[in-house]
Amino acid sequence: MDSELGPSSIATSDLEMRPTKIRFEYEDDENPQQRADQDETLTESSNLEVEEDAAMCEPSAGEDSMVADDHTSADYYFDSYSHFGIHEEMLKDVVRTKTYQNVIYKNSFLFKDKVVLDVGAGTGILSLFCAKVGAKHVYAVECSSMAGMAQEIVKSNGFSNVITVIKGKIEEIELPVSQVDIIISEWMGYFLLYENMLNTVLYARNKWLVTDGLVLPDKASLYLTAIEDADYKEDKIEFWNSVYGFDMRCIRKQAIAEPLVDIVDSKQIVTNCQLLKTMDISKMEAGDASFTAPFKLVAERDDYIHAFVAYFDVSFTKCHKLTGFSTGPKSRSTHWKQTVLYTEDVLTICQGETVVGDMTVTQNKKNHRDLDITIKYSLNGKNCQVLRTQHYKMR
Ligand SMILES: C[S@@+](CC[C@H](N)C(=O)[O-])C[C@H]1O[C@@H](n2cnc3c(N)ncnc32)[C@H](O)[C@@H]1O
Repeated sequence: MDSELGPSSIATSDLEMRPTKIRFEYEDDENPQQRADQDETLTESSNLEVEEDAAMCEPSAGEDSMVADDHTSADYYFDSYSHFGIHEEMLKDVVRTKTYQNVIYKNSFLFKDKVVLDVGAGTGILSLFCAKVGAKHVYAVECSSMAGMAQEIVKSNGFSNVITVIKGKIEEIELPVSQVDIIISEWMGYFLLYENMLNTVLYARNKWLVTDGLVLPDKASLYLTAIEDADYKEDKIEFWNSVYGFDMRCIRKQAIAEPLVDIVDSKQIVTNCQLLKTMDISKMEAGDASFTAPFKLVAERDDYIHAFVAYFDVSFTKCHKLTGFSTGPKSRSTHWKQTVLYTEDVLTICQGETVVGDMTVTQNKKNHRDLDITIKYSLNGKNCQVLRTQHYKMR
């Protein structure tokens, strides 16, 4: 692990801390706005001249009460997106934001004169990209109070006649139109599925997308690999075995059950990377996000394994050229980092030996934004035989 801050535990309250964690170390990592301006490939859209402001829907009485004391965990989720810090982190994630910008700017033919729905618009950045390449109209739906900022941003950039900001939950709002041609969204959470915003995109797709309409991105895949991570496991997990001479192994049990989000050094990877699951966002059903997938990880050298590592990629297959990005340890870092799931035992593995098993991912029954992950695995090696089932909770 190379994070100075150490891995971040996945707690609902930590959503607000996400902005403090990202660190890019690349030479070309200048001001993203500057980069956006330099990379611009399209001509200015005729939508720049505007006369009137599109109305922004008022929050309902129920949404107003989100600031009151009767918060549910779901409310905390939405509140975490009300602060600009989390949007700053996402916008500064140039792998993420530039990919969306390239998809839109380099495929303007997909957007020209089309009606677009931006699911979870945040600051409205994706809506602005779409408006700029000539979308006929963009509905930017955002449930947090960032919708107010999006409205102001739309206005100050001269797109009020093209972009309508609607404040509310996708599942509760009315759209002024019965169908849209394109749904665009950045819904991915840690471990791809944490936060469960995918269901919101599927809901919008089922309700408003025209037959043969586009969902962007349309493919997402989850991968698994295994790493050597002795020092970090010692520091974060084994630490609890004896704390100033006292047995705190009850906390060790909790620590090992919590996947950690952190950047993994690619040199730590011991095995191949195995595709677990590919989701076709244009066709899948909500239930498909809960699944069991087999894996077979083959050791590429003699080493020890201390953890499994999960990561995802997304792609936009309807572009002129296939476009997407990976959040894997061999790719440039993103704010999603990777998800590390420590193994109870240290696996001593020889080159060519395999860890086989399956991973089950389900939404937590109490809080549907949390994830329950079970990994069953076995190694029948020369120096090590293990058969184990481990349960993890992302919350
Ligand atoms: C990952 S952020 C992406 C923001 C923006 N599209 C961007 O790319 O910078 C997801 C946004 O979706 C909003 N959101 C999540 N669930 C929603 C729902 N059910 N209805 C409306 N907005 C939602 C969140 O408040 C958050 O601002």
